[in-house]
Amino acid sequence: MTTIAIESRRVFRRTDDYTPGTPKLKLTYEDLPSRLPSSSVLIKVHAVSLNYRDANIVNGGNPWPVIPHGIPCNDAAGEVIATGADVKTLKLGDRVAPIIDTENITGRESARSWLAADEDGVLADYLIFDERILSIVPSHLSWAEACLIPCAGTTAWAALKGFGIGKSVLIQGTGGVSMFALKLARAAGLQVILSSSSDDKLQQIKAQFSSPPLLTVNYKSPVWHEEVLKLTGDAGVDLVLEMGGTGSLVQSIRCTRRGGTVSQIGYLSRQDPSDLAELLPVLIDRRVNLRGINAASKYDMDDLCAALSAMQLHLDDIIDTTYFFEQSGEAIQSIWEGKHVGKLVVSL
Ligand SMILES: NC(=O)c1ccc[n+]([C@@H]2O[C@H](COP(=O)([O-])OP(=O)(O)OC[C@H]3O[C@@H](n4cnc5c(N)ncnc54)[C@H](OP(=O)(O)O)[C@@H]3O)[C@@H](O)[C@H]2O)c1
Repeated sequence: MTTIAIESRRVFRRTDDYTPGTPKLKLTYEDLPSRLPSSSVLIKVHAVSLNYRDANIVNGGNPWPVIPHGIPCNDAAGEVIATGADVKTLKLGDRVAPIIDTENITGRESARSWLAADEDGVLADYLIFDERILSIVPSHLSWAEACLIPCAGTTAWAALKGFGIGKSVLIQGTGGVSMFALKLARAAGLQVILSSSSDDKLQQIKAQFSSPPLLTVNYKSPVWHEEVLKLTGDAGVDLVLEMGGTGSLVQSIRCTRRGGTVSQIGYLSRQDPSDLAELLPVLIDRRVNLRGINAASKYDMDDLCAALSAMQLHLDDIIDTTYFFEQSGEAIQSIWEGKHVGKLVVSL
């Protein structure tokens, strides 16, 4: 057994008070165990990134159960500072990030256990995890860039999987998953159409990703799918990264080419099943493959890290704001308000 030299950690826990305007997080000090389990490592956390899911959970809106007063957030990157006696795959100084469904190693497991829901999350300065759920992150990335990989990164990766050079993709929204997907899609040779509810955000991103020029659509238009069709010569895109859920799915299929794919990632619109009245005839008519996306396995995360290393792709340009650890509550409120473009990061 390895003895741990650090006795306590700073950690945020959810208050589980869903009243608007009340604090959603509470900072506490908690003892660390004196000994490290044999297959686990102690991690000094350097950065945590936020996802819509974190804001949804602290406000009581998560559609899946969560443990009471759990530690929020599932995206972290940090350095291994102690290893259990039987750890074989990691060593001191390794830069690591945990997968977010800790049962999803190969992608074939039927069990599930999500950080920040079924078990505690990562908004703390020290974490202990079993080596089997940790990936080594690319060495060219800063801590802030590396912590984007486990959730937004693997989700974008899984949603784009199988689509490469010469294909076209509609990416909906300008949040964390979407901006990560924009980076990966461009690097993979896809033609990207980006949609947003905000012309200002579209102008900002067009200026930032100006070469080649980015095609854009404002999804506030009731017939936004027709604008996507027009941009593809009426054929439709090969792939849609669908963020709205019931409120946008039928329109997403309408602007997918026959035989194309819709990756269902989000559920951000008003979720009303009556919006899906035309789902089956449209799905059948366009022979579209509808696939559910739920982050990715450890093997997929390793593949994504390998791809980012091979391309030496940086992600600093999709980080909107970086907060201090003490400002975590403010950061979560900010993602809830949705004014950001890309990712919000807490730096430790
Ligand atoms: N399935 C998974 O593995 C997985 C993993 C991560 C996230 N998600 C889900 O994916 C979604 C996005 O997550 P995120 O962390 O990227 O969120 P985020 O950073 O908060 O971004 C959300 C953005 O989505 C856009 N949006 C809002 N309503 C929309 C609608 N009705 N149709 C299309 N776009 C809309 C908005 O962009 P504009 O302001 O530009 O309009 C908004 O800023 C969430 O539903 C989340 O739960 C799923």
